[in-house]
Amino acid sequence: MELFKTKIAGTGKYHPERIMTNAELSETVDTSDEWIVQRTGIKERRVGSIEKEEFPSGMAERAAKIAIKNAGIEVNDIDLILFSCTLPDMMFPNSASCLQERLGITNKCGALDINAACTGWVYGLTMANSLIQTGIYKNILLCGTEMASQFNNWSDRNTCVLFGDGSGAVVLQRAQDGDSSQILDSILTSDSTKKDSLILPAGGSKRPVRQDVLDEDAQWMSMDGQVVFKNAVKTMSSHCATLLERNNMTIDDVDWFIPHQANLRIIETTGKLLKCPEEKVIINVELYANTSSASIPAALHEAVTDGRIKRGQTVLFAAFGAGLTSGATLLKF
Ligand code: ACO
Repeated sequence: MELFKTKIAGTGKYHPERIMTNAELSETVDTSDEWIVQRTGIKERRVGSIEKEEFPSGMAERAAKIAIKNAGIEVNDIDLILFSCTLPDMMFPNSASCLQERLGITNKCGALDINAACTGWVYGLTMANSLIQTGIYKNILLCGTEMASQFNNWSDRNTCVLFGDGSGAVVLQRAQDGDSSQILDSILTSDSTKKDSLILPAGGSKRPVRQDVLDEDAQWMSMDGQVVFKNAVKTMSSHCATLLERNNMTIDDVDWFIPHQANLRIIETTGKLLKCPEEKVIINVELYANTSSASIPAALHEAVTDGRIKRGQTVLFAAFGAGLTSGATLLKF
């Protein structure tokens, strides 16, 4: 069977207007700009507004319009929408269907939500690649969009300083003959033995939000930061090393490394384990904090827009998140 190649045809992003600095956060919780910067590298984050329609499908609409324009296609050229989101607009209909309506797509394309927490967009990339490689679809819109401010416990300093809201989107397209751009390889894993180290226990069918949940404050996320930290650097660096090895490459062949933007120390430690020069690592966590599955596509869009990432260059993505999921993708942009 002939396999087609998949390229990233266009990128886009959106971050809410409202900026919340560390100094502002330290007025309401027992923390400080110094602690947050030293432990995480984060200086500020964006917080979405429901009134301004900065919930997941609303932010994704703004990011997707830019990606679609940059890909040079019309909305009705899209065959499938994949929407990675940890906390969607609502339980159903899915956010991908809400996005279809918001974009004015009338071709009845497929619409699917994906949840692999912060790794969701990288999971979506592999799924989209397979659907394009096998000839089922030609144009797939893949969004990673998160409104973490809605599951953040704003009185828990262990977690609330870490997250921000935002959206990143790409159009994945069947590559033409002679195109240098293509997705080369990917790895997706999950280690469920550590699933309780990053958890939002209530709000699903197993434990709907009722009075007992509110009494226990179980409607918020909780995290064992050190378990997550160790797992993140281990899985991201080993997945990247495996991808390079099985594609007969070394880190010298990689032009840009875009890790999930969770924490500067995680990014730096992973880079060191990979022996990746600092100047090849794309970082914007200081401005947006951890935007979960939006972080890689938004950082990609920034680096493409400002001219750092160019067509034909080799790019490596790596992500981790609740599950504990992890994934990496190697591609020619
Ligand atoms: N401000 C001030 N002090 C704080 C804060 C804060 N915001 N948060 C915790 N502390 C305190 C703790 O209470 C503790 O105090 P104690 O010693 O008196 O008990 C002290 O700081 C040290 O706490 P640690 O948890 O040991 O700090 P650590 O160095 O591990 O840093 C951090 C914590 C930043 C959370 C780190 O563990 C980390 O980055 N983990 C990974 C988190 C992550 O990336 N999460 C994303 C998950 S995946 C996804 O994207 C969904």
